Amino acid sequence: MAADIKIAELIERKAKVALGGGVKAIEKQNASGKLTARQRIDAILDEGSFHEYDMFIKHSGTEFGMQDKDLAADGVVIGTGTIDSRMVAIFAQDFTVAGGSLGLMHARKITKIQDYALAMRIPCIGINDSGGARIQEGVSALAGYGEIFLRNTQASGVIPQLSVILGPCAGGAVYSPALTDYVFMVEGVSKMFITGPEVIKTVLGEEISMEELGGARVHCEKTGNAHFYAETEQECFSQIRKLLSLVPHNNECGAEKTEAKNPSRKFDINNIVPIDPKQPYDVREVIRAITDESDFFEVQELFAANIVTGFGRIDGQTVGFIANQPLVMAGVLDCDSSDKAARFIRYCDAFNIPMVTLEDLPGYLPGVDQEHAGVIRHGAKVLYAYSEATVPKFTVILRKAYGGGYIAMNSRHLGADLVLAYPRAEIAVMGPEGAANIIFRKEITEAADPAAERQAKIELYKEKFANPYVAAAKGYVDAVITPEQTREYLIHALKLTKGKVAENPKKKHGIPPF
Ligand code: HXC
Repeated sequence: MAADIKIAELIERKAKVALGGGVKAIEKQNASGKLTARQRIDAILDEGSFHEYDMFIKHSGTEFGMQDKDLAADGVVIGTGTIDSRMVAIFAQDFTVAGGSLGLMHARKITKIQDYALAMRIPCIGINDSGGARIQEGVSALAGYGEIFLRNTQASGVIPQLSVILGPCAGGAVYSPALTDYVFMVEGVSKMFITGPEVIKTVLGEEISMEELGGARVHCEKTGNAHFYAETEQECFSQIRKLLSLVPHNNECGAEKTEAKNPSRKFDINNIVPIDPKQPYDVREVIRAITDESDFFEVQELFAANIVTGFGRIDGQTVGFIANQPLVMAGVLDCDSSDKAARFIRYCDAFNIPMVTLEDLPGYLPGVDQEHAGVIRHGAKVLYAYSEATVPKFTVILRKAYGGGYIAMNSRHLGADLVLAYPRAEIAVMGPEGAANIIFRKEITEAADPAAERQAKIELYKEKFANPYVAAAKGYVDAVITPEQTREYLIHALKLTKGKVAENPKKKHGIPPF
C-alpha cells in the first residue's frame, strides 16, 4: 500500500513537471504555431522511445525573487531515445518556462546530455527556443554557455551535432548552433541574431523586423548560417530523421548500408548534359541519375546555389556529392560556394563518407567584389579541404574543367582516387574563346578578316586542348567513359577503395584558411 502512494506521488510529480510553464503557457505556445519542447521530442523520435532525465532539477537562481520560483525541469527537457531504432541524445528548451532562458542548472542539463552523447558516440540533437542567458542568474548563465560551447567543439567531428532553431535564439546563444554540424530552421518560427531589432534601432537607428533580420529564409539563403529550411516544424522533423538515416552516427561506425537499388528515374545523362558548353542544366538531374532510387538529400539547398552539396546512396552506401551547378552563375566557385563546399567536404572526411565530385565550371569568379571579399582565402578552403581529405574521393568531369576550377574540384593533383571524364569534357587553362584572344591576339588583329581568324584560332585551341585526352595522356584522367557508365564505374570505385589506407602527416591540427 505504501509503495502505491509513492508511485502515485511520482506520477503526480512527473505530471506537474511535464506541464512545464502550465496549461495556459502551453496553449499560448501552441497558439503561436509552435509545439512545446516535449511535443517536439515526441514528434522527432520513434514513438514511445523517449526516456527523460533530470526532470526534478532545481534552478540555482537566488536573486530578483528567483529563490521563490519553481521552474519546471529548469526550462529544458533532456533525454535519449531512438530514430529508426538507433539511439540519439536530445535536449529541447521549454519556452513555456521562463522563456526557455538558460541558467546554470539548465546549462548543466544540456552539458550532461552532450557528455552522454559523446561518451556513447551517438548523435546529439539540440532544440533551441529560448530568450538566452537567464538575466537573473548573471555570470552563472554565461558560464553555462561557455561549458556548452566547449563540448560542442570537443564533439565536433566525432558525433553528428544537430541544432534545431524553433523560436528565438539570441545573443551569444547562437554560437552553440554555429559550432554544430547542421542548423535547421522553420519559416515564421525560427529567429537567430546576435542583437535584436530593438538594439539595432537604438544603436544604429535602423529598423528591421525579427523575421527580416534573422528568420529562416535569411539564414538559409543569405548568411549560410543554417543548412535546412522547412515550412513547418513537422517538415523540419522529417529532415532531421532523413539526415540521420544517411550519415554515420559517429566517426568510426560508417553509415548504415541499405539494400542496393537502381535509380528509379532513368535519365539519359547524354540529354542532361547539353552538347553546347554554354547551355545550362540542373546538375541534380545527373546526381539523381546515379543514386539509388534517384534519392538525393540536399544540404544548404538555398545558399550559394552555384554549388550543390548533399547525400545520396550508391549501391546502398552513403556518399557525399559536391557538384558545380551550371544552372546558377555557370557553376563558378566564389566566396560563398567555396565556403559551402569546403565545409561539406570536411564533414564527409570527418565521418568517413566517400565523396563524389561532379565537375563542370569555368573557374573561380573574377571581379573586384570577389577579390575584395577575400576569394583567395575562401577559395583556398576548397583546396585545403580536398587535399586534407583521406576518404575515398572520386571526380567525374562532366563538361568544363578550366583553370583553378580544374585543380580545385578534386583533381588527381589534390589526391583524387579516381578521375573520370566524359568524352565532351574540356580540360584546359581557360575557355577556347578567352585563350584564343590572348595567345593569338597578334594573328587575329593583323588578319585580313579578324573575326574569321579568331574563329579559326578558337577551333584550333578546342581541338588541341578542349577535350579530355590531353589530361588522359598524362594520367591525370584515369578513364574516359560514356555518361551511361558513370554509376557502374562509381560502384566499382567504392568497392575498390573500401580498404583505402591514407594518412596525413602527424600533427596537432592543421591551420585551414578561414
Ligand atoms: C530571464 C527571460 C529571458 C531571459 C525571456 N524571459 N527572456 N527571463 N532571462 N533572457 C522570460 C520573460 O521574462 C517572460 O517571463 C517569459 O520569458 C516569456 O518572455 P516574453 O518576453 O513574454 O515572450 P515574447 O514576447 O515571446 O518575447 C520573447 C523574447 C523576449 C524575444 C525572447 O523575451 C526577449 O527579448 N528576451 C530577452 C532576450 C535577450 O536579450 N536575452 C539575453 C541575450 S544575451 P514571464 O515570467 O513574464 O512569463 C545572451 C548572452 C549569452 O544570451 C552569451 C553567451 C556567450
